[in-house]
Amino acid sequence: MPIISRRTLLKGSAAAATSFALGAGLAARNGIAAPTPVLLKAQFTEARLAADGVTPKIMTYGLGDGTATGVPPVLRMKKGEPFAARLLNALDEPTTVHWHGMRIVNSMDGVPEMTQPYVYPGDGFDYAFTPPDAGTFWYHPHCNTLTQMGHGLTGVIVVENPADPIFDAEIVLNLRDWRLGRGGEFLPPFKPRDAARGGTYGTVRTANWQQEPMHQAPAGGLLRVRLAATDVTRIYILGIEGATAMVVALDGNPVDAPFPLDRLDFGPGQRVELIVRMPDDEGAVVKLGNFRGSSPFTIASITATGQSLKRDIRDVRPLPANPIAEADLSTAEKIPLDFTATAEHAPSPSICGTIGYTFWAINKVPWPGDTPDPVAPLSDLKLGKSYVLQVRNRTPHAHPIHLHGMTFRILKSNTRKILPPPTDTILLQPDEQAELGLVADNPGDWLLHCHIIEHQKTGMTGYFRVA
Ligand code: C2O
Ligand code: CU
Repeated sequence: MPIISRRTLLKGSAAAATSFALGAGLAARNGIAAPTPVLLKAQFTEARLAADGVTPKIMTYGLGDGTATGVPPVLRMKKGEPFAARLLNALDEPTTVHWHGMRIVNSMDGVPEMTQPYVYPGDGFDYAFTPPDAGTFWYHPHCNTLTQMGHGLTGVIVVENPADPIFDAEIVLNLRDWRLGRGGEFLPPFKPRDAARGGTYGTVRTANWQQEPMHQAPAGGLLRVRLAATDVTRIYILGIEGATAMVVALDGNPVDAPFPLDRLDFGPGQRVELIVRMPDDEGAVVKLGNFRGSSPFTIASITATGQSLKRDIRDVRPLPANPIAEADLSTAEKIPLDFTATAEHAPSPSICGTIGYTFWAINKVPWPGDTPDPVAPLSDLKLGKSYVLQVRNRTPHAHPIHLHGMTFRILKSNTRKILPPPTDTILLQPDEQAELGLVADNPGDWLLHCHIIEHQKTGMTGYFRVA
């Protein structure tokens, strides 16, 4: 087994410490105070997620003194300002932190073997970067993810933009399911026959670790709701009852023209930002719900409080755009990417866990897991050059395909009429074929994988090398 030596680990941390120091130096030159790292402690906790018992050994991130109970903290950052976090691993297995959707330097991306060493129990790692984009993002481990994320280790990131309009209230919702049996104990994280299909669903559905939580917001006010789908499997069709809501951002990027929320596909890894016009009557209840599948359910409800603020939903304007480069289609090279099922075989074991099966592949190659010696990149990309990824879902299941470190634009698709703003995740529908334009503007090795974690872990992963 390719166990990393303690020396390599220290070397890795030293490299991280250097980049932390670099970040601080840069900040000082810009007249911005060097950030004090946020202490982010990966640790065990317990909580009452289901009615019939307390769930032990939930994994979560504790901030600061680490006395976290309940939902992992929302990390707040500012666009263009340096951020730093010190991960401390108080779990009983290696972990890392990946900053999902953030276009940051490769060495901070959190992928073991590829961008950083494993962080063993009792050890730490310093992350430092400057978020270039404002919006809603999230953070999670990139090691033994089916278990670690399935057991709770996910948090939402809000990158604030001082240029954003001010709303009357804001709610951040971390949406996830839990696979719990009787008494609130964790069930095995997956069933092989489901992993080979749409993925294994949890048994308890929550927002911020609560079933159908009730929130409040000023009557007649404009409420900003940030939702992140951090579940390992569930795809939502998002809708609202009792109010009108405008979709203002998807996957961390503002839409050009806000549009009313009707039924919106929303898969693992993705984010949605809404502006809800709360009803005028005190006590009126707005419900956010999932309308996918045969039994729709309420995700969260919001009660109007106080006297109406009498805001006008027509005052909702597009949010300021992020600085995403547009692909030059006249020179872009085309790269076909086929997402398929593959013949079953056992993958090699890895420090970050394997679930023991291979069901999926990209361009016929199933990912072997996190190893010091991975397969070749899907393609070598030239730094600064434009590309068109021709993605084809050749399966009857939906796959939320996520690219690390870079943002792409869906240029066309055979299944959708409205194209979203630039994104890090495309929820590829069954048999969908789409073209994704991107500029390879971030050097390093960047993973591309399905965010249904069972699919990611059973072969549907690859990477690009940008140099
Ligand atoms: Cu949410 Cu590989 O990422
Ligand atoms: Cu998938």
